[in-house]
Amino acid sequence: MSDKRARNTDRDLDNEVARLEFQAVAFRRIIENEINTLSLEQGMSVLDAGCGTGAVSRTLARIVNPGTVTAIDINDLLIDKAQKLAIEEGIDNIRFELGDVRNLGFSDASFDVSYCRIVLMAVSDPVKAASELKRVTRSGGQVLVSDIDDDFMLVYPPIPTIMEVWRKYVKVAMDEGRDRYIGRKLFSILSQAGLKSVKIVPTVLHATQDSPEELRMLSSVPLRLMERAKEPVMEKGILTPTEYEAAMTEYNEFLNHPGAFLLMGTLFAIGTVP
Ligand SMILES: C[S@@+](CC[C@H](N)C(=O)[O-])C[C@H]1O[C@@H](n2cnc3c(N)ncnc32)[C@H](O)[C@@H]1O
Repeated sequence: MSDKRARNTDRDLDNEVARLEFQAVAFRRIIENEINTLSLEQGMSVLDAGCGTGAVSRTLARIVNPGTVTAIDINDLLIDKAQKLAIEEGIDNIRFELGDVRNLGFSDASFDVSYCRIVLMAVSDPVKAASELKRVTRSGGQVLVSDIDDDFMLVYPPIPTIMEVWRKYVKVAMDEGRDRYIGRKLFSILSQAGLKSVKIVPTVLHATQDSPEELRMLSSVPLRLMERAKEPVMEKGILTPTEYEAAMTEYNEFLNHPGAFLLMGTLFAIGTVP
């Protein structure tokens, strides 16, 4: 690998680590809501599938201690980072492993609870992945999957330039197999995987000028994704630097608008293993 390419890869990884850790802070109330819905107890064994930087694994590990969290991800670089972050926080009850949620290397009924946040949108066969989560969870245990749905957002005043850039990003993501509208399908996915008593729970966050910092933080979640995807989308020739800059100008106007309002939601589905 050339030095320049290696530096880019390091920078991409650092950006992705920062983005995922930031997202866990911005969505902390959504994550709390999901975790509170799980019947977690000290001593339990929990799987966090597609753990990324392990922000959620660390929260789960604190709750179930002296139980354990097994955190897997398909990206070995993220697993290394996640391991370091857990050590830095003095958490020693997480086992990090490389793995694919569609083909988990664990025996049947290995876990009390399996959790999978914002992963299925990127997985080619989400029903197979959910079936694997069910297989490795004990009878009576819970499986929770959480994901996004890009129609689940309200904004005032209108931001047409940003929305146009966002549509281009979504098109590239969908063409590459990332389903940005998977949230509405989670009930169907868990039901097809054979889970029982499946419930779907929408969780929303909103922000106004009542709390400008909250407004900035919440709106930064899609913004950071756009920033990260900017170069690949431009390389496909469907987004120009001028369009992107116009979107950023509109974003600053939005942030300074006295009536600014943003509502963003995600959905989770929770089911029980028969
Ligand atoms: C948006 S991140 C979410 C990370 C974490 N769950 C969170 O909420 O902070 C998605 C993660 O899923 C991982 N991933 C994607 N496909 C996967 C697969 N087939 N098996 C396991 N992990 C996968 C990615 O590497 C990435 O770390």
